Amino acid sequence: MELQGQTAIVTGAGRNIGRAIALELAGMGADVVVAEVDRATGERTAEEVRKRGRRAMALQTDVTRLADLQAMADRTVAEWGRIDLLVNNAGIHKSAHTADVTEADWDRLLAVNAKGVFFASQAVLRHMVAAKRGNIISLASMAGKMGLKTSLVYGITKAAVISMTRSLALAHAADGIRANCVCPGIVETDMIFQVDREAGEGLMGLKSGEYVSSGWSRSRSAGSRSRRTWPTWWASSPPASRPT
Ligand SMILES: NC(=O)c1ccc[n+]([C@@H]2O[C@H](COP(=O)([O-])OP(=O)(O)OC[C@H]3O[C@@H](n4cnc5c(N)ncnc54)[C@H](O)[C@@H]3O)[C@@H](O)[C@H]2O)c1
Repeated sequence: MELQGQTAIVTGAGRNIGRAIALELAGMGADVVVAEVDRATGERTAEEVRKRGRRAMALQTDVTRLADLQAMADRTVAEWGRIDLLVNNAGIHKSAHTADVTEADWDRLLAVNAKGVFFASQAVLRHMVAAKRGNIISLASMAGKMGLKTSLVYGITKAAVISMTRSLALAHAADGIRANCVCPGIVETDMIFQVDREAGEGLMGLKSGEYVSSGWSRSRSAGSRSRRTWPTWWASSPPASRPT
């Protein structure tokens, strides 16, 4: 058990990729904090972690609320004494042609996908720096590295995650803390089916499923038992034992 005795926090772990990561980490021996805005799905994932023989806490957490993020980190340390790993998974998407991007969409996407990642990291870093160890893994996206006609703001948020990962890694290498991000292609989840409806069918006139199946970089579905999710691979792999 590579992560026996370790404590991981996974944001947005109520469903799909976040849930898969939480369960994978539990399978590797970690106790898991499910930091999810949706109470019911958060509780459900926590119960699944417990069924795998690990401790779990479901903390209702909105990553756009700094008070929630402080409470997430403080409660984890108060209850379990340590934070070894933060997985910044919570994220949202909104499709729009450039002319139709609203200020509200811009603010919301940046708040969840970029500001949420930064302040969740800041909240756990206070404890990690004191402990002189820690691991932060964030879900960026291929969208942060390429142009996409109807995902402009989403792409910006993911480019921000890539940038802040580099800076966090540099800023905290000397503290014994690693920061990495992963850039998945398409994973079949609620988010991507929403993109298929909004962008594929709604904006591009494609048939249902066509946007996803045309997959610019196809990955397996988040529920697949056979695959290790990227973050957990990072958490356990030899490269991750070195500072980034
Ligand atoms: N699905 C893909 O193809 C894909 C590709 C690349 C990157 N990603 C990234 O992976 C991550 C997970 O994606 P997914 O496809 O599983 O998405 P999803 O929409 O299926 O799940 C997202 C989860 O985050 C939670 N969440 C949303 N807003 C939140 C908030 N403010 N605070 C806390 N939790 C919140 C949701 O309740 C949900 O449980 C996201 O960051 C996404 O951008 C997904």
